[in-house]
Amino acid sequence: MGIQKKIRKAVFPVAGLGTRFLPATKAVPKEMLTVVDKPVIQYVVDEAAEAGVEHFVFVTGRGKAVIEDYFDIQFELEQTLKARNKNAELTLLSGILPKAGTASFTRQQEPLGLGHAVWCARDIVGDEPFALLLPDMIMRGEKGCMKGMVELYDKAGGNIIAVEECHPDQAHKYGIVGVGEALDGGFRITQMVEKPAKGTAPSNFFINGRYILQPEIFEILETQERGAGNEIQLTDGMLKLAGKQDFAGYHFKGETYDCGAKDGFILANVAFALERADIRPSVEDQLKAMVAALK
Ligand code: UTP
Repeated sequence: MGIQKKIRKAVFPVAGLGTRFLPATKAVPKEMLTVVDKPVIQYVVDEAAEAGVEHFVFVTGRGKAVIEDYFDIQFELEQTLKARNKNAELTLLSGILPKAGTASFTRQQEPLGLGHAVWCARDIVGDEPFALLLPDMIMRGEKGCMKGMVELYDKAGGNIIAVEECHPDQAHKYGIVGVGEALDGGFRITQMVEKPAKGTAPSNFFINGRYILQPEIFEILETQERGAGNEIQLTDGMLKLAGKQDFAGYHFKGETYDCGAKDGFILANVAFALERADIRPSVEDQLKAMVAALK
């Protein structure tokens, strides 16, 4: 319809401590752990770029400077590759470099929670709707999750949350939404519950870590009190915003891997390796043998 403001900016909150991945995350941010041969953050930035995002906003913290270096030119390395005529590698490196001026970094000085990390991006985002991608969740599907969300947003406007179905027994582990009127590609959200007690979930649609939010969320987060875990929670802020604006759920059809957890990270590596023509042949046979040998 083209009446919605375009989603030009995406926020990546990368200031978490990554305690579930210690000791690895003592010196390496979890977003820089590799899935096959790319850091996790690269998958998420690629997903945003595929959806038409033009400006990438990283909310970092202490010990995360390596993320900033990753999205910059590595002069010595590139000179050495040039001298050695390693053109394929040079092309690979230039392909991941954001255009000059399209990446911004701001620091969340204390890890006060996801809601607070998002609020730290307010001045860079300004008064326009934006994408929010939790960088430890990576997805595999026929269509990029954020691309599908932007398509729904262009029709429905408002705020969009990507959701996926989980087994009803697992609903207590996630943020769960209530399902209202059907939309093309999703539905109206009637409620949101963070980690509902067993047997009380309004549906089995869980929030998978991708959002399109209107800028009014920043005013709400500014005064948002601490909630669960003594952290400023994004969900609490979204619940307030839902009292004033529409929220739609985008039904993502694909797999999400939580790379902030050990099992999700390992599964992501296996799944993405099996998609790669250069790696699959050697990995597949050995994997099958390993599984067959399990008692
Ligand atoms: P997580 O709940 O995964 O927290 O945050 P975490 O600290 O990164 O990891 P664990 O649980 O200690 O292992 C969800 C997302 O919100 C960001 C994280 O970087 C992650 O992308 N976050 C969380 C912040 O940027 N700042 C915070 O204060 C909290």
